[in-house]
Amino acid sequence: MRIERVYIFGMALEPIVVFFLLGELGVLVALAIAYFLARYHKGTAHHYLMLAAFLADLLVFKPLMYSRAGTAWGAFPWDGTRIAPHLFVAALAGAIGVIDILLGFKYRVKKGPKMFMPPKGRLHRTLGLLFLAAWSVAFVIGLVIFLETWVP
Ligand code: HEM
Repeated sequence: MRIERVYIFGMALEPIVVFFLLGELGVLVALAIAYFLARYHKGTAHHYLMLAAFLADLLVFKPLMYSRAGTAWGAFPWDGTRIAPHLFVAALAGAIGVIDILLGFKYRVKKGPKMFMPPKGRLHRTLGLLFLAAWSVAFVIGLVIFLETWVP
């Protein structure tokens, strides 16, 4: 049986849209927890969770959203929608994220099961914050697109 619509708070949503919404909320929560793990010097857990959240977002949710943009909204630049800025900011965040991950591996120091970032890894912290800011902007634009499309 194919589910045509999922009903939430008076909205009749397509199942794939619910998948995107819950998936991106999950990535947001994982990024926030990974950030606090770094702040509390849990470097090993921080790096596993950041990698998992980043890769799930980049390899699963973002490609599916891009494909959906084509089927539901037509061709680039999707006139009359905010999909183009959403895509540009998400691509910028992705590029910053890749560089930041490489910097993480370059500068990290492992001592047994623990992982630290020496002072010369400062750039990883700065770019990491920039990544989180850019990712959050893309997330908010996505939320606005969702609300404009689905809220009656
Ligand atoms: C997109 C992925 C990542 C982001 C956004 C990110 C972001 C950050 C940020 C913002 C901090 C500083 C937190 C603070 O204010 O104290 C930090 C610290 C750190 N990161 Fe990452 N990171 C990422 C991936 C990685 C990876 C892949 C590694 C290791 C290979 C890594 C290793 C570390 C370590 C060891 C610290 C220091 C933790 C401590 O203070 O003891 N990070 N990261």
